[in-house]
Amino acid sequence: HELGVVAVGFSGGQGKQGVDAAPMALIEAGLINQLRDELEYNVHFDGEVHAYTDIMPRDDPPYRNMKRPLSVSAVTKALSEQVYEHASQGRFVLTLGGDHSIAIGTVSGTAKALRERLGREMAVIWVDAHADINTPETSDSGNIHGMPVAFLTGLATESRPEVFGWLKDDQKISTKKLVYIGLRDIDRGEKKILKDHGIKAFSMHDIDRHGIGKVMDMALGWIGTDTPIHLSFDVDGLDPMWAPSTGTPVRGGLTLREGDFIAECVHQTGSLVALDLVEVNPSLESEGADQTIRAGCSIVRCALGDTLL
Ligand code: ARG
Ligand code: MN
Ligand code: MN
Ligand code: MN
Repeated sequence: HELGVVAVGFSGGQGKQGVDAAPMALIEAGLINQLRDELEYNVHFDGEVHAYTDIMPRDDPPYRNMKRPLSVSAVTKALSEQVYEHASQGRFVLTLGGDHSIAIGTVSGTAKALRERLGREMAVIWVDAHADINTPETSDSGNIHGMPVAFLTGLATESRPEVFGWLKDDQKISTKKLVYIGLRDIDRGEKKILKDHGIKAFSMHDIDRHGIGKVMDMALGWIGTDTPIHLSFDVDGLDPMWAPSTGTPVRGGLTLREGDFIAECVHQTGSLVALDLVEVNPSLESEGADQTIRAGCSIVRCALGDTLL
């Protein structure tokens, strides 16, 4: 079992400081040691929380309604290459964020590597309270952490290379190979996008109706066997009762067990090739930070094969 770990201390996809401190908090909580010692992964980690300060532009005014477009584009481009490097060597890639804009880098890196290695199109399971599929035009906030899926699926495009124009077709995913779980706070424009493109989405309503077991059967059934899966897990998919320390909490979310169960089920497919854990913000809640970090560590362990028995 070869595991590549990338720690991304980046917060520019949204407005709150502190989410850049999450990788260090997760590592200090013992996450990487547990993966090495208990789950017996051969860990490839450069030991660094990347802040990409050397490639950060000095001046980064809004463009097409996007905030900090040059910074997010530069960071995700560099990250895409790091993730690609691990994935093309057959390693499972664990990325510790950072805000969810970093998924532009992680998913593009694995999508390209898996196309080359297996000749297959990858699927993405996006666990989140939000769909993060706004285009620059539909976004109310201008925060790019609400847009990664639009860029990754080609629903949002931009020709300027310094503003995501570097994203090529072999780094993108199909809207047909995208599945959401846990949604409960979708913007009006996003609802229309989900509907118009027939995107598979399991909201909290679906989980209430069918239970998480049936929802996972349906989600994995939609993807089908033999398709590599990238799991992008936003900790705000969990209810704030379990993960309060996050920038955009939404009540009525997944329980801790439901979150772990999702990760366990995706692991059991044997098709999981990468995991992102994003939006943990240890600085937002003095009391809730510990709980949120523990929840994040638990999700990662479950996705990497830890079992209850
Ligand atoms: N839909 C809102 C927006 O576009 C919130 C996005 C929250 N995204 C996240 N990764 N937490 O601004
Ligand atoms: Mn979210
Ligand atoms: Mn998100
Ligand atoms: Mn296993």
